Amino acid sequence: MTVLGIESSCDECAASIVRDGHIILSNIVASQISMHEEYEGVVPEIASRLHAEWIMEVGSRAFKEANLEPADIDGLAVTVKPGLAGALLVGLSFTKALAWSLNKPFVGVNHILAHLYASQLSEKLPYPFIGLVASGGHSLICKVDSFDDITVLGTTIDDAIGEAFDKVAKHYNFGYPGGPAIDRLARKGNPKAYNFPVPNLYKGENRYNLSYSGLKTAAIHQVEQFYVDGHDKSPENLAASFEKAAVDLLASKLIKACKDTGISTIVAGGGVAANSYLRQCFSSQPELKVVFPPLALCGDNAAMVAGIGCKMLERGDRDSLSLNASPRVYSFKKPSLKTRTNRNN
Ligand code: KG4
Ligand code: ZN
Repeated sequence: MTVLGIESSCDECAASIVRDGHIILSNIVASQISMHEEYEGVVPEIASRLHAEWIMEVGSRAFKEANLEPADIDGLAVTVKPGLAGALLVGLSFTKALAWSLNKPFVGVNHILAHLYASQLSEKLPYPFIGLVASGGHSLICKVDSFDDITVLGTTIDDAIGEAFDKVAKHYNFGYPGGPAIDRLARKGNPKAYNFPVPNLYKGENRYNLSYSGLKTAAIHQVEQFYVDGHDKSPENLAASFEKAAVDLLASKLIKACKDTGISTIVAGGGVAANSYLRQCFSSQPELKVVFPPLALCGDNAAMVAGIGCKMLERGDRDSLSLNASPRVYSFKKPSLKTRTNRNN
């Protein structure tokens, strides 16, 4: 089955053609980063306007790179939630129009599930595994039983991890987007230079939850005194210490989730899965298999959408032209009481 995937939930306008759920025939990502840079954050109205301008070109490049004609595909898949409403609607309208004109089936895809599917494009990973989606909008730890069956174990209760990277980097003018900028600086810094607070207030059923606003505030305000007063003018040290605190918290929750569930595979996805320290911090945990997508598939892309879309279409899923986009998604399962293990953990 050959599927065209479309992704336009935030600031990447992307189209990809994937065969049989894992063979990437083309993967076009047109990033709007430089258009949002002067605002140091994604401006929703600019994002949707650029998607509307670019989507035709991005879509036709995906066919050209795959050496296929539109009539050669078997179906289409498009991100419909969560994301920026106006941006999502551009991809959805494009997909509906193309599906209607080709008389081919299409499905709406959940962006979170697509990130969790990204690693399946390079390696067939058996279920269940512990999933991590870490991006600018999400920090989610879950048990993944199939490509569309997840149970949420924990989420951030305030900022997403990528958002914290972005805001700290913005405050210190480290560069935009902040995650890659902090990653680059941190490689040359001392992660022990600052002793940032690592919140671990969540016990019982909330023990996998995360919080990043306190760490972000500590990095921005408390350290600013030292930083500006000249005790330590090293952006590298600040970046390395912040990154270590942010990632260690995530890693500790993932390791806990593995211990509690008896699952020994972790599969990561989302922009923050590109982080160098996160990618190597499990080396002292040889009993765990930790899988990261290739760098090109960590951030937003349409190959992950086409891949999971292929699984949905193969199963017989079909959406109608009345399908709508949704900025939010809170419909994932929570663990049932009996699967919540030892409350003292
Ligand atoms: O998945 P994504 O492309 O878009 C969302 O769905 O949010 O993730 C973007 C986020 C941004 O916050 C960006 O700063 C962060 O991923 N990011 C990183 C790195 N590369 C991207 N964070 C830390 N280290 C990186 N190397
Ligand atoms: Zn994303």
